[in-house]
Amino acid sequence: MSTQAAAISVRPLLITADSNLLDDVLRLAAAADVELEVAHAVAVARPSWPAAPLVIVGADLAEDLVRRGPPRRAGVVVVGTEHDEPDIWPLAVALSAEQVVLLPDSETWLVDRLADALEGDAPRAVTMCVLGGRGGAGATVLAASLAVCATRSGRRTLLVDGDPLGGGIDLVLGGEHTAGARWSDFAGTRGRLSCSTLSDALPRVDELTVLSLDRGDTRAIPAEAMRAVLAAAERGTDLVVVDLPRSLDEAAEEALSRATVVLLVVPAEVRATVAASRVVGAVRRCAADVRVVVRGPAPTGLEGQTIAESLGLPLAGRMCAEPDLGAALDRGEPPAVRGKGPLAEFCAWFLAGLWGERERVR
Ligand SMILES: Nc1ncnc2c1ncn2[C@@H]1O[C@H](COP(=O)(O)OP(=O)(O)O)[C@@H](O)[C@H]1O
Ligand SMILES: [Mg+2]
Repeated sequence: MSTQAAAISVRPLLITADSNLLDDVLRLAAAADVELEVAHAVAVARPSWPAAPLVIVGADLAEDLVRRGPPRRAGVVVVGTEHDEPDIWPLAVALSAEQVVLLPDSETWLVDRLADALEGDAPRAVTMCVLGGRGGAGATVLAASLAVCATRSGRRTLLVDGDPLGGGIDLVLGGEHTAGARWSDFAGTRGRLSCSTLSDALPRVDELTVLSLDRGDTRAIPAEAMRAVLAAAERGTDLVVVDLPRSLDEAAEEALSRATVVLLVVPAEVRATVAASRVVGAVRRCAADVRVVVRGPAPTGLEGQTIAESLGLPLAGRMCAEPDLGAALDRGEPPAVRGKGPLAEFCAWFLAGLWGERERVR
């Protein structure tokens, strides 16, 4: 823990000469696994003021700071206790602070904000939505396979279950008994959620983080909860895969509107293609980049390109039927986990292309 103001700080900056406040905030920073730059006087805070990802101003030095008129910046919070009220409020306004944090009541908020400060605000992840052109098209299996495959190649990945009638995507991974939070724990979430809070709460199945619906709970996911979860995940992971139902609810529309790419899985059959055409319009109203994945077998030899053209969408790719998939799923073996077979090969190929596209636009 440095007590000197470095020339350029990448750590959150705490400005206080109050030893009790210092102890409290250091304890909360430790809980967030964040190291702080500490300035015991306003004068020594100056070099770090512009670049620190977050500035926490103790109520004891807030007036002194206001008097010196530092340049305006985002990411300032003023911290005190109830004894600092009401004087703390006009000082916070003068500093354009985003929040007044009164301890101990707002400890959790400050821990989350500290963790967030290091995560940064820029969304980094690719968000991918997967849905089926007809019931049983293989959307959930493909969503799980993509997430498994990305995790195997070292990408931090979150698989999000967005289908209230799907029976819980943890079951597809054999992770239904894995302890950790499910959607019901996040259904009331509004506003900003820290990525570390999300990631710490969720179960992992072989390193893949999963947010599954609870078995038996068929309630819709609130759109605001979906927004908060995806925003947090996009800041702290490489890939977010969302498994969606064909009948779009508000949460599905929220996910689609954030998606980098949407995959529509269509079995290589005429009836499936016709059914898929009914889904396309609604999906395209929410998402710009929608591509078709054609799944074999093709009983009459229907070509992937023909299906994609009749839907007016680009073809992302085509894959053969996965042998012994039903038995593997019943054994609790996640799809594509062995890295072999049509699903694993399609996912590895598609993801490699996607990371390549991503690099080119950067
Ligand atoms: N790639 C595949 N190869 C062979 N069968 C598959 C494949 N994907 C899905 N299936 C079969 O279809 C069933 C439904 O798949 P699922 O992913 O749940 O469909 P959806 O989510 O589109 O309703 C699976 O239980 C499996 O039997
Ligand atoms: Mg499904």
